[in-house]
Amino acid sequence: MALVNAKEMLTKAKEGHYAVGQFNINNLEWTKAILLTAQELNSPVILGVSEGAGKYMCGYKTVVGMVNGMLEELNITVPVALHLDHGSYEGAKACIEAGFSSIMFDGSHYPIEENVEKTKELVAICNEKGLSIEAEVGSIGGEEDGVIGAGECADPKECKMIADLGVTMLAAGIGNIHGKYPENWQGLNFDVLDAVQQLTGKMPLVLHGGTGIPADMIKKAINLGVSKINVNTECQLAFAAATREYIEAGKDQQGKGFDPRKLLAPGFEAIKATVKEKMELFGSIGKA
Ligand code: 13P
Repeated sequence: MALVNAKEMLTKAKEGHYAVGQFNINNLEWTKAILLTAQELNSPVILGVSEGAGKYMCGYKTVVGMVNGMLEELNITVPVALHLDHGSYEGAKACIEAGFSSIMFDGSHYPIEENVEKTKELVAICNEKGLSIEAEVGSIGGEEDGVIGAGECADPKECKMIADLGVTMLAAGIGNIHGKYPENWQGLNFDVLDAVQQLTGKMPLVLHGGTGIPADMIKKAINLGVSKINVNTECQLAFAAATREYIEAGKDQQGKGFDPRKLLAPGFEAIKATVKEKMELFGSIGKA
């Protein structure tokens, strides 16, 4: 099945009270692991690409070529969206050109008026080309690929203003942060989430920083309108731990254990297991 935009899968998720996972990709192994898991579990999925990861993988055209090739050659039939994560204005335009099916424009660091103007322009382009678009209000804390946010809570009225521009999905900061959560983290702010959902109605809400949020908070967030949850760091940690174990056990020095197809296999399986665990928690299994 060809790439789809994220609108239909997220509308269904919001109505059905579950969330679709966005899993960020870094290379071929990542992409293949996520796609195969989604197919095995009959779950819709969103592949996230940060600007840094896009650059690392040679550029957006390479990413589009790799993903489209896999959809065909792995016989992937579940809905898959290829989504720019935390896109700049220029990055969003480049991904639209390259063949992504969905973009995020992160204008959260602009004054709200400028965020509105730029979002409006990108909404018009995405509508014309049939892409879905995510906007953000209230920056997500922590650091991801050089994009640093303070972890503020969004102003629900600003969320409503951006939602009314016709975006497909809205990321609202509710105390969530990228990367590992610190010991003294206060947790998600459900009052803010509730207020945002009350004002934005059917709009699918996006929860960034999905790594390390306790299961009960994830479930509560889904009940309050979150339909897309982004996970990046957790797959990286799982991949690194499995690779470390392989090397520390000296397996790369046994026989042909140095062959990348063997060396990277435990990390690949670890990503698959992490994605499976998240899809179970988010409730997206069997919803393709
Ligand atoms: P984590 O790296 O904390 O899982 O966050 C992912 C994310 O929000 C991508 O935008």
